[in-house]
Amino acid sequence: MESDPNLSEMVHLTPWVAMYHSPDWLHRGQQFADRACQRLLSIPSDLALSVAESPWLCQRWLRPRYESQLTQHRPHLPQLDPLEAGIVEQLRHRGVAAASLADLDIPGTAEFWEVAQRVAAALAERSHHPAFAHCHTLTASRADVMAAPQLFWWGGAPRLLRIVEAYLQLPVAYDGLSFYYSCADGRVAGPRKWHRDKEDWRMLKIAVYLHPVNRDGGPFESMLPEANQTLRSHGTSPYPTFQHHQVKALLGEDSGIWRTQCTGTAGTVIFADTATYFHRGRPPERTPRAAIFYGYFSHRPKHPFYGGRSPLTQAQIRQLAASLPPASQRAALWRDYLPIPGRWIPKNRLRV
Ligand SMILES: [Fe+2]
Repeated sequence: MESDPNLSEMVHLTPWVAMYHSPDWLHRGQQFADRACQRLLSIPSDLALSVAESPWLCQRWLRPRYESQLTQHRPHLPQLDPLEAGIVEQLRHRGVAAASLADLDIPGTAEFWEVAQRVAAALAERSHHPAFAHCHTLTASRADVMAAPQLFWWGGAPRLLRIVEAYLQLPVAYDGLSFYYSCADGRVAGPRKWHRDKEDWRMLKIAVYLHPVNRDGGPFESMLPEANQTLRSHGTSPYPTFQHHQVKALLGEDSGIWRTQCTGTAGTVIFADTATYFHRGRPPERTPRAAIFYGYFSHRPKHPFYGGRSPLTQAQIRQLAASLPPASQRAALWRDYLPIPGRWIPKNRLRV
């Protein structure tokens, strides 16, 4: 498993600025200690996942509860315009859909784009520093995101929440963003392996590419439905991960028939159901990839202890959400609406 750079920030007492001045051996020691700490803190949520995935509990309680929520919410589903309906249709057929910032035309996009480019440039510069020489991916910090609130606001746009609600068929939780700068080192680690996300029965990630992404630039890849089913039947655990060569051994060398590879220009927006479908960020080989990934699932997710993993604290989310419309605020503050046991289990701190 790979430790999540966002989450390391929560438990990690050494700011990256200070690490600039640490000798290499000390930096590696700190990383090792952080990982060990995150693994320990993740034990309760890993145990809770095992319990929730036990066939008896799943079939007797969690699935009936999910189906009843779907039935109750059916009369309240939003009306979609043709663009939104087209995205939902693609998602239902292939688990992935593409649009552009221009297509979506969300208010505030120009400001969003400007600050996103600024943060991407800062991460690119940071990636050249020796303190980050061992990182395959850099993530925008809590301070970076708080200094650029337009990033958070863009993801809470009513249009995006309508698309998510229509796909999930349930009220939506907006789980914030992770801003990644993925280095062109070809390394296979963490979310660069094939995996499924664990937050809910279904969920959506919305990714925005901040510069052109071609085949060698780390495109997002998602398994097509039939191949996904084959892969799901080959795991030894509910959420297995696979190396790319293992997937090719199972599904064949011609990956064009079993996956969607999402290349695109700057400003491409990818919608993907990352809970149902195996997916990965293809390791970038020639050019680094800067992209923002927004997370969404149902307002009462199956495994809430895998959500809430953006770099922000709940108080910071509350502060940023205050500028959103009421329905988006409710989506962003989903943790406040959880029943008590869901809030007590500490958040998992490992990404994949
Ligand atoms: Fe993922």
